[in-house]
Amino acid sequence: MDLSLLAPDRERIAAGIASLAQNFTEGAQEGWTRRVFSDAYIASREWTLNAMLDAGLDAHIDYAGNVVGVLAGRNRSAAPLMTGSHTDTVHGGGRFDGVIGVIGAIEVARRLRETGTVLERDLVIVDFLGEEANPFGVSCVGSRSIAGLLTSTHFDRTDDTGIRLGDAMTAAGLDPSAALKQSWEPGSLHGYVELHVEQGPVLERSGSAIGVVTAIAGIERLMASFVGRADHAGTMPMAMRHDALAAAAAAVVIVEREGCGAPVHGVSTVGRFESSPGALNVVPDHARIWAEMRSTEVGWLTGAKRRVVEAIGIEASSRGVDLVLEWLNDQEPVKTTPATHDTIARAAGDLSLSWEAIPSGAGHDAAHLAHLGPMGMIFVPSTGGRSHCPQEFTDIDHIADGVHVLTTTLIAMDRDPHD
Ligand code: GLV
Ligand code: MN
Ligand code: MN
Repeated sequence: MDLSLLAPDRERIAAGIASLAQNFTEGAQEGWTRRVFSDAYIASREWTLNAMLDAGLDAHIDYAGNVVGVLAGRNRSAAPLMTGSHTDTVHGGGRFDGVIGVIGAIEVARRLRETGTVLERDLVIVDFLGEEANPFGVSCVGSRSIAGLLTSTHFDRTDDTGIRLGDAMTAAGLDPSAALKQSWEPGSLHGYVELHVEQGPVLERSGSAIGVVTAIAGIERLMASFVGRADHAGTMPMAMRHDALAAAAAAVVIVEREGCGAPVHGVSTVGRFESSPGALNVVPDHARIWAEMRSTEVGWLTGAKRRVVEAIGIEASSRGVDLVLEWLNDQEPVKTTPATHDTIARAAGDLSLSWEAIPSGAGHDAAHLAHLGPMGMIFVPSTGGRSHCPQEFTDIDHIADGVHVLTTTLIAMDRDPHD
């Protein structure tokens, strides 16, 4: 087959990305903010649904709020292929994270139809609900549902105002209990491939057009609450204080040092910090941090959890501050499937695109889809390595290359009769 015939239409991809960015963002927020359950996000689901219908897919929104489109293959009973990503963003996020995997997948379907290329298997395209971390502490809500990894315990998680995730889903017109029952069987997917921006500086630095992902980092999220004692900041001697903020600040540095000293891939961050009462002349009695540690190596992650908890505990008790710890996330590191990795690499080579193997420090829906069958990911370069900020950018030529590799990979997997 002449692969150049399947090259994507870059203007159409650029228009899709621009349409989501310009028409569906939370106006009062910085960047291109489209958080899960926001009005902008809910309105954008209809846009994605219509884009899928317009591309000739049989599309609907499922119980968990995933927008799902199917391009029928010749053999409807063969295990299907799946591709997709997400269109929610972090607060103050960019235009490309997740979005190129959804718009790119829809473009794949369009090009297959326009060239009269009929796959053997169904191609399922999904815009997964709520991939990003949210105030309920549950990321990848939609992909967990499809992969059978969403539980009623997730629905009981509450945000700062006490609203349950399950109730937020119901308020958004979704059906949480049905979302628990719609999952696919392990082994039911012929393969899942996701196109995504790298979100880091590696590909740009090395000049590679394509990253073939080797593993997706596991994520451990910790909420640590510190309870000390409020006292007059002018009269209470230093040695007699129970300063919750000072204990939390020490914890921030402990978390940072853990990642700095990682001998393997490992990073650690405190992304949120609160303290009260927040007056200049009162020793703070309450503080809270939200920390996360990430690694592609489960051994480091397990050790880092233990070391951080131990060190934070010693700091807090030395200040007479009580500590309550809650682990919020449960995402193990996931390796991509070697055969899928190789198929992506071959597809890049067939298109004369330079590629390199690369681990993902970011979390992805793909990590959950790995429970259903072979899984791989395609990365394209991020300018300046920037992501989760308004400056996030990827050149349309790089995105088009990634979409072309996605198409070529899916066609190769479709022909592989391993099931
Ligand atoms: C998702 O973008 C994550 O890695 O947190
Ligand atoms: Mn993403
Ligand atoms: Mn993200």
